[in-house]
Amino acid sequence: MSSLLETKIAARQHALREQGLLRQRKVLGVDHAINTNASTSSPRFVFEGRAYVNFSSNDYLGLSRVPELVEALHLGAQTYGVGSGASPLVTGYSDAHLALERELCALTGHEAALLFCSGFSANTALMKTLFDQHDIVVADKLVHASIIYGLQDSGAQLKRFLHNSLESAERLLARHHSSALITESVFSMDGDCAPISELSALCRQHHAWLVVDDAHGFAVLDGYKKAEAAKLIDVQVVTFGKALGCQGAAVLGSQALIDFLVSNAREYIYSTALSPANAALALAATQYSTAHPELQQKLLENIALFKQLCREANVPLLGSDTAIQPLIIGDARQTLQVAEELRAAGIWVGAIRPPTVPVGSARLRITLTAAHAAEDIATCVAQLAQVLSRVGVPLVTERQAADEHR
Ligand SMILES: Cc1ncc(COP(=O)(O)O)c(C=O)c1O
Repeated sequence: MSSLLETKIAARQHALREQGLLRQRKVLGVDHAINTNASTSSPRFVFEGRAYVNFSSNDYLGLSRVPELVEALHLGAQTYGVGSGASPLVTGYSDAHLALERELCALTGHEAALLFCSGFSANTALMKTLFDQHDIVVADKLVHASIIYGLQDSGAQLKRFLHNSLESAERLLARHHSSALITESVFSMDGDCAPISELSALCRQHHAWLVVDDAHGFAVLDGYKKAEAAKLIDVQVVTFGKALGCQGAAVLGSQALIDFLVSNAREYIYSTALSPANAALALAATQYSTAHPELQQKLLENIALFKQLCREANVPLLGSDTAIQPLIIGDARQTLQVAEELRAAGIWVGAIRPPTVPVGSARLRITLTAAHAAEDIATCVAQLAQVLSRVGVPLVTERQAADEHR
């Protein structure tokens, strides 16, 4: 007879499979033929013996394969060893961590920083430690799962405002005596940007802190770095696994906040510290991104090219101006089918389904990087247009006609 847990697991997996929502990992390998000159060619990998161009990575500046940064990690490991060996308050906090924290503060204008091994743990630690049952917290409807889980654990009352709506945010701030408003700089699944200056003004008016998850904006968007960020944002979470191409995260804010987290954040106190080699790498990647503004420029050109080609081919994008370009299909199975057909053409695009996005808004999440070659972007769009029309997903003109008919 199966145990209770075996029965539960089998039933849940069956239900997910039936709804087209089962998640499975794919083992990806290195494309040795291409990656000899990896920092100057489109990102690629091999899956089951076939090479794919990767349009599904958050390595927006292409830094993960830059030779100088590979060398920085190597040097970091030679200097400090490959691991930190302890939690930060025991013996896991080194001068490599301090140097990275100082660099991040100099870039953003915040007084102090605290490093975590991932953005997920930075967000959950921040929410759980900062808020408790006495707090009312206002958050954008689309903030990341790590923020929601952290808030749920904190016991705070959570009030959600309509995505990017200043009116909705103001209504909630006026109605409730809120401790903080939480948003993202660039939304991970929609690619649009929050109105940070306006939200900051609202927060000042209502004596609430503005907390911004800057995972997809840091080192890519100009607006909230270069020492300006701290003037608008009280707490900023930056991650190293996206535009910096490596791993880890930091919470940035006042010295009082960081001291409070050091003494109270259980994820920080009871977990092995980010390795010093990774801290040295993140520092080198931060400096590299600042010293190479042409990468940001190349990313912007690639985004513009992709959008222009989609416009010409009537491919219906959501209207984002960032590296994250969503194409809403709606139905989860149809989204998977389109992604699979694109793979048949050697193009790898993420199929994002509920619960990551709301039910009925399954989508392709196409991400551009500075490393994509123009001809690969053109191939991606041409294949996209062909597959969408073959599968029966309406192109822009057909959608407009249908909308007008409604
Ligand atoms: C908006 C946002 N915040 C936080 C995270 C978590 O960051 P990390 O991947 O470093 O855990 C992600 C990653 O998916 C994200 O998209």
